[in-house]
Amino acid sequence: MSRIDEIMRTAPVIPVLVVEDVAMARPLAEALVKGGLTVLEVTLRTDAALDVIREMKQVEGAIVGAGTVTNPQELEQAIEAGSEFIVSPGLTETLGRAAVDSGIPFLPGTANAGDIMRGLDLGLDRFKFFPATAAGGIPALKSLAAPFHKVRFCPTGGITEDTASDWLAMDSVLCCGGSWLVPKGSPDYVAIAEGARRAAALAA
Ligand code: 3PG
Repeated sequence: MSRIDEIMRTAPVIPVLVVEDVAMARPLAEALVKGGLTVLEVTLRTDAALDVIREMKQVEGAIVGAGTVTNPQELEQAIEAGSEFIVSPGLTETLGRAAVDSGIPFLPGTANAGDIMRGLDLGLDRFKFFPATAAGGIPALKSLAAPFHKVRFCPTGGITEDTASDWLAMDSVLCCGGSWLVPKGSPDYVAIAEGARRAAALAA
């Protein structure tokens, strides 16, 4: 089993995190890990993101990766910060090659057959299906997965606590991603750990 496969099978849900304040990094990771969600995607959408990755890595049990990685320069920064896996909203030749050359577990975004074929050409067969709901939802992924029967996905985008189990019931889905675990605003760590516990209990 490849390392990205192992990571995708660790928990049914990968929280997609947008963290503005580095002081929140540790308590947030602790709450999610306590609830059973140990794979954490820190999006590079805030100035604090790389420091957030460094902080979250100190939390025992957390497997911390970088999300919203869109080019080789961000890839390098994310690796340098200690990311254990990389997620991208899409797949370009330059980013794909750089990620494969680096050897880091990589989950690029795909939403059509051409994207998947570009990934397969690079030796990749684990993808984020993004934006999952807007790109046609479960019927779209079913159609897309059919010709690529060895490929597995982490659908992300528009998924909620109520819809996650429908996605997870698909054979082609190993886990799903979502930002619903950490609502915007001042964090309620007890509620976050509770939400993580419910998400971790969903069957993958
Ligand atoms: C992502 O980057 O994966 C998405 O922004 C997450 O989508 P969601 O906010 O709809 O869960």
